[in-house]
Amino acid sequence: MELEKIELQNFRNYKNATITFDDGLNVICGQNAQGKTNLLEAIYFCVVGKSFRASREKEVINMQKDIAKIKVYIKKNVGKSIIEMLFSKKEKKTVKIDGIPIKRISQLLGEFNGVFFSPDELKLIKDSPEDRRRFMDIDLSQTTKQYIYLLSRYNEVLASRNKQLKQNLKLADMKNILSIWDDQLATYAQKIKRYRQNFVLNLAPYAQKAHAYITDGKEQLGVEYVSIAENTKEEIIKKLEQSIEKDLALGYTTYGVHRDDIKVTVNGIDVRTYGSQGQQRTCALSLKLAELNIIEDITHTRPVLLLDDVLSELDESRKKRLLDFVKGTQTFITCTEFDYPDIKCKKIIIQNGDVK
Ligand SMILES: Nc1ncnc2c1ncn2[C@@H]1O[C@H](COP(=O)(O)OP(=O)(O)O)[C@@H](O)[C@H]1O
Ligand SMILES: [Mg+2]
Repeated sequence: MELEKIELQNFRNYKNATITFDDGLNVICGQNAQGKTNLLEAIYFCVVGKSFRASREKEVINMQKDIAKIKVYIKKNVGKSIIEMLFSKKEKKTVKIDGIPIKRISQLLGEFNGVFFSPDELKLIKDSPEDRRRFMDIDLSQTTKQYIYLLSRYNEVLASRNKQLKQNLKLADMKNILSIWDDQLATYAQKIKRYRQNFVLNLAPYAQKAHAYITDGKEQLGVEYVSIAENTKEEIIKKLEQSIEKDLALGYTTYGVHRDDIKVTVNGIDVRTYGSQGQQRTCALSLKLAELNIIEDITHTRPVLLLDDVLSELDESRKKRLLDFVKGTQTFITCTEFDYPDIKCKKIIIQNGDVK
């Protein structure tokens, strides 16, 4: 997969810009607040259909304008495609693939695959399990249509079950009603667990390899899926039934795949608790780099890689090894300076929302 060109209209601080890219390393250079991250945001928008930073989507429209547009030209293994995102202050955004509007964002799936990494991704290691679940969910959603469905159904049923728990009912009646939700919850949970389990099993060796490469063999990474959920539907139902009293007391469902996590270790030590900031950062990066392989295995096409402000965060040796590691992947990397004359790349200088 290759991003050949992007056109931006009124997207954040871009008025009217057309940028063409190289199929290898693209270095997006510029001073602070010129629009480097905005450019990655626009590209990644077309991958997942949403922003990695805007909570309100309309904020991507240039402050002085009412509509904005992102248009990307993708070269695939076979053929090409054009994805367009049209934003309007008044209406919902429209997404078009090859000129045809899509109804659901899931239809974007497989059109344009990419992995995004920024220093913010440190939360993947440091923060709550929620971030690590999101990591699994975003990846699985990019590659597996059924997963999107399972997850959204699971969340719906979970919300209904939680609502039910707050009703004031006799225990026997409550149990009766909950058994309907439990049956559905278990059906989805069992499948979600299997997807996630496999995902982490596949991811771990790739992440280990990336990590060993970047750290020059100094650190050995461990990645493990952690779930309190059982494997079969029957066992899950049983556990849900056993936790009813606890759930009623707390007012929410305490058992299930919504509590899943990923455990990350370096040389056998839990990096979340004991790792240095630099180690945590490299772990997060390795996990992200492994996503490239996972997506490639499933879609048979190499996703693009977006790296925001990563270079400033790594020491010289890790920096060089990273740049070497991403050879063969179309990569977009932002930085304020890039002084590596031996590294082949296309340098794109961004100034005030335009290419210099
Ligand atoms: N909706 C918007 N309209 C106009 N300018 C915007 C909008 N959103 C962000 N900006 C501007 O974009 C700039 C930040 O761009 P960014 O890509 O984050 O910079 P950097 O090059 O440091 O990564 C800021 O100057 C900000 O004011
Ligand atoms: Mg930035």
